[in-house]
Amino acid sequence: MKDLETRADIELLVNTFYGKIQKDETIGYFFNDVAQVDWNIHLPKMYQFWETLLFGKVSYKGNPMSAHFPVNAKVAIEKHHFQHWLQLWTETVEELFAGEIAEMAVYKARNISQLMAHKMAVAKKLE
Ligand code: HEM
Repeated sequence: MKDLETRADIELLVNTFYGKIQKDETIGYFFNDVAQVDWNIHLPKMYQFWETLLFGKVSYKGNPMSAHFPVNAKVAIEKHHFQHWLQLWTETVEELFAGEIAEMAVYKARNISQLMAHKMAVAKKLE
């Protein structure tokens, strides 16, 4: 298996991951129903996000945390949801790629996911 190297690799990873998310019984609901995500906008944003994190090509200019607060305010995104997100992400990375960048994709996702889970829980307590 090859490592994650190109923009096409990122697109394959992101498309495969969100393909699973859309059908996922545990967290698909947040994307399909709570936020009613427009995938034509979300997917290109996620290509940019991962390209920025993994290749240092700074094409993503948003704030990954702030997008989640309004969703969390409607329906709490809990620790177990983030653990499930991370499990799906890790599984998808590992079924498609192997190498240093692939490991980085899992490592960075884990860090962000843990931080995000913490911030969402704090926001719920302050409501
Ligand atoms: C169960 C966990 C998660 C749920 C339910 C979730 C849900 C969502 C939803 C619904 C949006 C889109 C909002 C919209 O366009 O209306 C979004 C955006 C986004 N998510 Fe997540 N997310 C989760 C975890 C994560 C994690 C762990 C990361 C990072 C590793 C992440 C990164 C992003 C980014 C970068 C955006 C785009 C933000 C922007 O608009 O600039 N998400 N997420």
